[in-house]
Amino acid sequence: MSRHRADVPHDQHPAQAEAVEAPALPAPEPDGTPTGVWSTGTGRGADGALRVAGLDVRDLAREHGTPAYVLDEADLRARARAYATAFAEAFAPEAGLAGADVYYAGKAFLSVAVARWVHEEGLRVDTATGGELAVALRAGVPGAGIGLHGNNKSDAELVTALEHGVGRIVVDSLPEIDRVAAVAERLGVVAPVMVRVTTGVHAGGHQFIATAHEDQKFGLSLTSGAARKAVDEILARPGLDLIGLHSHIGSQILDLAGFAVAARAVLGLRAEVAAQTGHLMPEVDLGGGYGIAYTGHEGPAPTPAQIATTLADVVRRTCAELGTPVPRISVEPGRSIVGPSTLTLYTVGTVKEVALDDGGRRTYVSVDGGMSDNIRPALYEAEYSAALASRGSAAEPVRARVVGKHCESGDIVVHGVALPGDVRDGDLLAVPATGAYGRSMASNYNLVPRPPVLAVRDGAARVLVRRETIEDLLALDEG
Ligand code: LLP
Repeated sequence: MSRHRADVPHDQHPAQAEAVEAPALPAPEPDGTPTGVWSTGTGRGADGALRVAGLDVRDLAREHGTPAYVLDEADLRARARAYATAFAEAFAPEAGLAGADVYYAGKAFLSVAVARWVHEEGLRVDTATGGELAVALRAGVPGAGIGLHGNNKSDAELVTALEHGVGRIVVDSLPEIDRVAAVAERLGVVAPVMVRVTTGVHAGGHQFIATAHEDQKFGLSLTSGAARKAVDEILARPGLDLIGLHSHIGSQILDLAGFAVAARAVLGLRAEVAAQTGHLMPEVDLGGGYGIAYTGHEGPAPTPAQIATTLADVVRRTCAELGTPVPRISVEPGRSIVGPSTLTLYTVGTVKEVALDDGGRRTYVSVDGGMSDNIRPALYEAEYSAALASRGSAAEPVRARVVGKHCESGDIVVHGVALPGDVRDGDLLAVPATGAYGRSMASNYNLVPRPPVLAVRDGAARVLVRRETIEDLLALDEG
């Protein structure tokens, strides 16, 4: 935030792809807060309080309470548009390629408005459950622009998907082939399917978010021959139309090399199938997983343009080597579209200093949320940052840990961050880059109601998902 955005007119059109495309990591703020992690509409006002898209966070807190997810609509739209533009350009027929589609991975965060926005910006929507599918449909995304994933799809999910004419069902196991074929037959339709291939590429941070190594639940193995077997079984069923192969190698990946290796592997299988069966699959999906800045210290995140040109090069070169026509490509970014758009606003409660074994001291700053609104630090040891949001402060920074209000010592919001030494009860704290897998993985642990998602744009806030209430929770309890 040293690149204060307060001086950027907030009514500018969201198409600030430039700002998104240039995620240089500026120097930390004087209080030690790393930068490069805030939405493009975030800055500090003259009195030092944080503002998002022209709105003072104190006003947001007063009106909507805390904790709250604050989503910068222009930032999200710009990222979505940057992907659409970058992939359209890099995969254009003039570039010797066959076009590309960008599917927004709804698992990162999906609401009706967000599905509508990304659709308006030219993206399709990737869903993983009947719930995500229902939201995308409610938003008016046409079935043809929706994909359905999942390693254990129910018949009901398959029926809904096929009734709405989804553009693709990504088959994840051999038994699923029979299930999809049976549902398609029952409905009298031909199901467009892809085969999810595990390529053996292991990428991403924590083992729970890497998905293309062999010993995990997703996909059909390339090396064991399961992927090829799936292809042959699908080709033998008239009710299934094999439109392509799919690969997703993991999440929060900052180095694009793994995508290239995986792309070569699936393109190789596609060429082999074409040579041996005569069926040239028209599409290849290279998944999502592009990393973002959470603390500003993880190194630069790849931009949509870098991702698109890297993948375009690999596809062009590999297909030339293989002597096969290029497929239409698709990708499925989730985190890198919604993650940076959102911050979580908390109110500070107790502040406590503890002595450390190394002779130092740590200040524990408790906030009014925690692992129920962001499970990622506890689940993946994910790192975040935080900043004092309701005022500026010139106080000497202290070594702080931000913790939640849950009855669990692992209830950590930010493991380590420098905060002004005068941080106190009643202050607002902002944690940036919580848009992906924050609200979507939120829980009611300790019967804490889940926070609202507030969209801000041009100085106005709108509730996308309202705050849950104790009444909501009691309504489920049959007594
Ligand atoms: N496509 C497929 C098939 C996926 O499984 C995923 C993520 C994505 C796309 C989107 O990946 P993204 O671009 O958002 O990284 N909950 C974890 C990550 C698990 C993601 C699972 N699949 C987290 O909080 O980091």
